[in-house]
Parts: sequence; structure tokens; C-alpha cells
Amino acid sequence: MTGSVGIVGAGTMGAGIAQIAAVAGRKVLIADAVPGAAARAVDAIRDRVKTQVARGRLTVDPDALDLTALADPVGLAGCAVVIEAIIEDLAVKQALFAELEAVVADDTILASNTSSLSPTALAAGLAHPERLVGLHFFNPVPAMKLVEVISGLATAPEVADAAADLATAWGKTVVRSTATPGFIVNRIARPFYAEAWRLYEEHATVAQNIDAVLTGAGGFRMGPFALMDLIGHDVNEAVTRSVWAAFGYDPRFAPALAQRALVEAGWLGRKSGRGMYPADGAPAPAPAPAAPPPHAVTEHAVTGLVPPVGDAAPVGDAAPADEREREREPSPLRVLLDRAGVAIVAGDRDGAVSGGPVSGDTARLPGGLVELPSGALLTLSEGTTATALAAAFGRPVIVADRFLDPATATAAAIAPSDGCPPAAVTEAVGLLQAAGLDVYVIDDVPGLIVTRTVAMLANLAADALAGRVASEPDIDAAMRLGVNYPLGPLAWARRWGTGTVLRILDNLEDWYRDGHYRPSPLLRRAALAERGLAARESLLPSPGHSGREEGQ
Ligand SMILES: NC(=O)c1ccc[n+]([C@@H]2O[C@H](COP(=O)([O-])OP(=O)(O)OC[C@H]3O[C@@H](n4cnc5c(N)ncnc54)[C@H](O)[C@@H]3O)[C@@H](O)[C@H]2O)c1
Repeated sequence: MTGSVGIVGAGTMGAGIAQIAAVAGRKVLIADAVPGAAARAVDAIRDRVKTQVARGRLTVDPDALDLTALADPVGLAGCAVVIEAIIEDLAVKQALFAELEAVVADDTILASNTSSLSPTALAAGLAHPERLVGLHFFNPVPAMKLVEVISGLATAPEVADAAADLATAWGKTVVRSTATPGFIVNRIARPFYAEAWRLYEEHATVAQNIDAVLTGAGGFRMGPFALMDLIGHDVNEAVTRSVWAAFGYDPRFAPALAQRALVEAGWLGRKSGRGMYPADGAPAPAPAPAAPPPHAVTEHAVTGLVPPVGDAAPVGDAAPADEREREREPSPLRVLLDRAGVAIVAGDRDGAVSGGPVSGDTARLPGGLVELPSGALLTLSEGTTATALAAAFGRPVIVADRFLDPATATAAAIAPSDGCPPAAVTEAVGLLQAAGLDVYVIDDVPGLIVTRTVAMLANLAADALAGRVASEPDIDAAMRLGVNYPLGPLAWARRWGTGTVLRILDNLEDWYRDGHYRPSPLLRRAALAERGLAARESLLPSPGHSGREEGQ
């Protein structure tokens, strides 16, 4: 698409979009309701680009950028595309689009940078609703790679294609989404905050420890509380509430009372001086004090036992090829034992068989099972509490949280069963410290911190995929580029195994029984397929007979 680009709204986002369009060589016209705002934005853009050029990050002539400030959107009549980035208000945006439609050409594309309103609703009432598309940039626009192109019910495919081409030409990575609440990123990211709030409200541990585990064990760039303090709790909570309401108050998206209290107190985050953390920053996280590692541990149930799906019995030797393949991968616990360099005594390696030195249902612990010198067991979280496992095994159990990658993790969370002797906790702490990890001992909540957070991110990603909101690659790319996740949630589900993610969610839902953790039916289906077939290309089942005959 050639021709000039119109921008309405010269605030944070409008100025950012104007900047990247102008840097890409487009003629840009920018309008704002506040007199002088567009002109100030043009000056600010030139200054920012000058700084970028001075730092060697851009090679354009800042004075040659084709930027014009307008007093009135009527001046945008000749534009090939107009992108609005005004106040987030449906009625005000609809009025603007109606005003624009009266002056622009019939084929002018109208795009909205809305972060929460449906392009379907924005287009309602237009003479040509097919020309309106969502073009969701992320803040700060020049730095953030991702753009969500959102098709409303009426959006013409060629309009979405043209919007995607435009953003691509401006150096962005485009993902396509349908007009559903929160689009891709703001919908699937909710559990990153929600799980942190649930843990906080359950007093699993203090906020700074939750942040430390999600960064050090989960590989996230920032912890959820530090991130919410940066975003602003008012903004973050408003997005949560809007997605929650849009999904009919689905308990998966429910807001937290603790965050409501922060908003009511005016503790909005860095912008108001304090948020979850005081103005002078987060208190230092408090890992366990140094403990000596055990001399040797006994390793039972090495890894990769075929996980039962739902209530199905373990299939043992009937494990299909891809499951046996996974059996040969070292379990996360084995990776940590190797990092720790402790002596390993082989125990009951066929964990599917109960009895021997370890009684209880080891088949439910495919992440591995390690016996500490005190006799306590250490295992990887499957979404149950340590206390429930201790009841099954008849001895103390310590559950370890999962990791993005146990080979590179720098932190771990563990939860001991109720009544677990302190000496056993010390053994587990010493073992994981010997592996180079900061160890956080938290209360015995199921799914600890990373396990429940990632399982829920994968769950919502699977639901979005099932609803054809976006494709599998686009969902993962959106979460990596839009919110900097170290791995897309669907790729993460594959890494852990869809059966594992499903089991974690089933166990969490069984514990809380509030609907919050109910698994996506697609995850259940993919987990069954994972057991029954070789690994598939997509989590989605391959389309069956479409009823459409080739050549007719
Ligand atoms: N800030 C973000 O992080 C972010 C990220 C993605 C999307 N968005 C969306 O982008 C849009 C703009 O957000 P922002 O953060 O840039 O806001 P902002 O407050 O920084 O800027 C909005 C600008 O629009 C102008 N404006 C308001 N009503 C107008 C009207 N009727 N006509 C012309 N100009 C008008 C205001 O004067 C202001 O300059 C919103 O829809 C928001 O949801 C924001």
C-alpha cells in the first residue's frame, strides 16, 4: 500500500506509530484533539530519532522525516490508511471513525490501536465496516517487535492483509487474531498475574520470592509483581476485569482482592511512588540459608513413566514410541542431581511398580523420585500437594517446582509436606544448593509457583487455539515478543508434555474445585493423542473430511 499515513491521537502510542512509519519513509500526518499536541509530538519524534541516530541505532536524516501536524482529522482526507490511537472509549472511537469515513476515500483503510475494544464493535455503524481492522502495537512502539492484526466480524481479508503488510514493512512481526477479548497477548498472559495473586493470597510465600522463582526457575525476564508495579495496578487490573467480564465472569480470569486493595489505596506502582513494593524498590528475596548437601541419595522412578491421563491406568510396556523416546531424556530431578554432583544409588527404577523400598503410587510421579538419607522423598510437582503424596507414600515428601530448563535454572522452590522433619527439608535445600540454585521453601500449595503458572498459560493458549483465535505459531510468537516469555506457552506444553500439563491442571482443579484450573478440552485431546500416536505437527487435530470435494 502506498500513499500517506494518517494518525489520530498524538499520545504515547500515536507518536510511536508515527515515528516508525516516518522512519520507514512514509509521509505521516498526525492529528490530536488537544491544540498543539500533534506539533509537540512531531518535535518529540524528531528529537528521539536524533538520539537514535547519534547512538548509531538508526541511519536516517531526522530533519528529512515527512511528518506533518494537523489541527483537525479532516486534514487526513487523502490518506491511504488512518490509524487511531486516541482515548480507549468505544463511543468516542466510533464517533471518530464515523467522522473519518465522511472525509476519506472509499478504499482508505481505518485501523484502531485499541488494546481491549472489539474491532467488530468499532466497525458497527460504519458504511464500510469491512475496511476497519485492529492494529495493536505494543508500548514502546519503536522497541516492541510485535503487532497483533485483529479481524472483526466484517473485516475484509484483504484489509487485514494490507494492515499486516504495512506493519511488516515497518519492521514488525505480525500475528493474526480474531476479535476476541484481550486478543492473543492480553488474554493468554492473564495467569502470569493471576497465579501470582493466588499464591500471595494463599500466603504461599512473600511477593519478592514469587518474583525470584519465576525469574530464576521459570526464566521469565521479570517477576509478575515487579512487572505489575511497572505497568500500574490500575491499568493491569482494568485489563483483568475487562477480560473477566467479557468471558462472562469465568473464574479463570477472576481479579484478585489483594490487587483491588492496592488500587483503592492508590498504590498503583512506580508511577504513584509505591505499589506492591515500596518506593525504594522490592525487598531482597529470602532464599533458604546455606545447608550441607547429602552425601548420597537414592533415585527411584528415574523418569518418563507413561503418565496416566485422567483416570486411565498407566500403560507400562505398551508405551508408544514417542513416549519411550521421552523416557530416555533425563528427568529434571536427574539433571539437578548431576549438577549437584552427589552420589546416586539406584533404587526401584521401575517406578510403575509399587512396593520395594518405596511404597505408594510412583506411576503418578513421572518427573522422577529421589529418596533423601532421612527417608523423605523429593519429587517434581504434578499439581498435587506434598502432604497428599506423603499420605500416599507413608513418609515425608518434598515437592520441587518445575523449571524452564533445569540445566540453566538459578532458583528453585520446594514445598515440604505438613509435619516434614526440618532435617529432611535441610537435606533437600542442601541438595539443590549444591546444584547452584537459590532455594525458596514455600508453603505446601499445589503446583507451587512455576508449575501452576506455566500450566495455566498453556491452558489458556490451548483454549485460544481451540477457538481458532490464532494459529499455534502465532500464539507462541505473540507471547515471546509481546510479553517477552522465554518460550511460547504451547511450545512449553510440548516440552513438559501435554499429558503432564493436563495432569497438573486436573490435580489443581481437583484441589480447589472452583473452576479456575479446569483444563482446556483441546489439552485433554492432545494429551490422549500424545500417548496414542507419534508426536503431531499441531496440538489441533488434523481436519477431518471437510465435505468439500476437490475439483468440484
Ligand atoms: N499505552 C499503552 O501501553 C498502550 C498499548 C497498546 C495500545 N494502547 C491503546 O492506544 C490508544 C492510545 O493510548 P495512549 O497510551 O497513547 O494514550 P495517551 O493518553 O498517551 O494518548 C491519547 C491521545 O489521544 C488524544 N485524543 C483523545 N481523544 C481524542 C479524540 N477524540 N480525537 C483526537 N485525539 C484525541 C489525546 O489528546 C492524547 O494526546 C488507546 O486505545 C490504548 O488503549 C495503549
